[in-house]
Amino acid sequence: MRNEGLSVLSLGNTLSATMSSEKERDYERCRSIIGALCEGDDDQIAKMASIVGVLHNEMNDFFWTGFYRVVGGRLVIGPYQGTVGCLRIEIGKGVCGMAAAVGETQVVENVHDFPGHIACDERSQSEIVVPVKDERGEVIAVLDVDSVKKGAFDELDRKCLEQILTHVWRGR
Ligand code: SME
Repeated sequence: MRNEGLSVLSLGNTLSATMSSEKERDYERCRSIIGALCEGDDDQIAKMASIVGVLHNEMNDFFWTGFYRVVGGRLVIGPYQGTVGCLRIEIGKGVCGMAAAVGETQVVENVHDFPGHIACDERSQSEIVVPVKDERGEVIAVLDVDSVKKGAFDELDRKCLEQILTHVWRGR
């Protein structure tokens, strides 16, 4: 009994290690395609559209992938892939507005537990929102990714998406 428990545990660990390295490899591939596409381009929309196009099609579980831009003190929809998104979001409202207000990535395991979550598509169950900062550290946009699975995003997603955005906007 004890051994069975242990082997199930170790199978679980092996599986989760394999799954996370598959996700790491997917991000690695995205990073290099995005790096090549955005190299030397200084148009904000071109960069956002390319990032969304790559991530949405290369990553598993990315149900809605898109940017909201900071325009006139509010978030306004930018390039995205997925079902129709909300056009405007107040800074401080919902997960996107919170990420823009505090300038920190928000990883939400279950959107129904997030106070004030804005449901553009009720199928979304979990979400990650990463701020885009310019060279002065000002938030100029947020990248929002939604999944129909609960708990689809974790620290690996945070690390890899932050790396991609930092590389494209701040060159490091
Ligand atoms: N869920 C987001 C709103 C944007 S959509 O999901 C596309 C939020 O609460 O910020």
